[in-house]
Amino acid sequence: MKYGWVALSSLLAFVAAAHAADPELFLLPLMKDTVASQAQMLWDVGNKALDDDGNASSAKLTAADWTKLAGAAQKMKAAAASIANAPRVVVAPAGMTLQDEGAPGQATARQIQAFIDDNPKDFADHARALADVSDGFLRAAASKDATALGDASARLDEVCEACHVRYWYPDQPK
Ligand code: HEC
Repeated sequence: MKYGWVALSSLLAFVAAAHAADPELFLLPLMKDTVASQAQMLWDVGNKALDDDGNASSAKLTAADWTKLAGAAQKMKAAAASIANAPRVVVAPAGMTLQDEGAPGQATARQIQAFIDDNPKDFADHARALADVSDGFLRAAASKDATALGDASARLDEVCEACHVRYWYPDQPK
């Protein structure tokens, strides 16, 4: 009986460990379904904050806007962390093709996979930059600070672009 319990508890520990870290994270569905849509929400609120002179003003935003911003930033941060912490990032599940796959300057899924596998640490650093900028949005939302929101919106653009230029369309004329 005693041994039975030992075996059971080590089995449970094994199951828990297997759950803690998914061995593979699929990038494409995460980009499409989470990162792109949450970024759109973050940028929408950022744009709404702009007054007629193009300056960020908290007077343009309601409490609901700030709540929406915080929610999107939280989801973005979680997505970024899941990329940064994944034991292995896999570009796409079998049968799923990239947007505009084969367009000039754009790497194929196989090439992107090779770029990531060659440099998983650098890829994770780009994902951490996405988590950092998500924190910037969270801070802006917590203090209802429109200037900080404007800064985070501009930085978000750069963070997406920096990773895409390096891993998605490295041969695009600059
Ligand atoms: C850590 C690197 C990284 C960051 C940061 C990143 N992306 Fe991506 N993204 C990629 C790679 C690599 C691809 C190409 C492979 C693919 O489509 O999954 C991609 C593809 C995409 C696609 C196309 C998906 C498809 O259908 O093929 C969209 C949309 C996208 N990213 C949006 C964004 C936005 C918006 C941001 C910033 C908020 C962002 N990404 C930040 C790496 C990144």
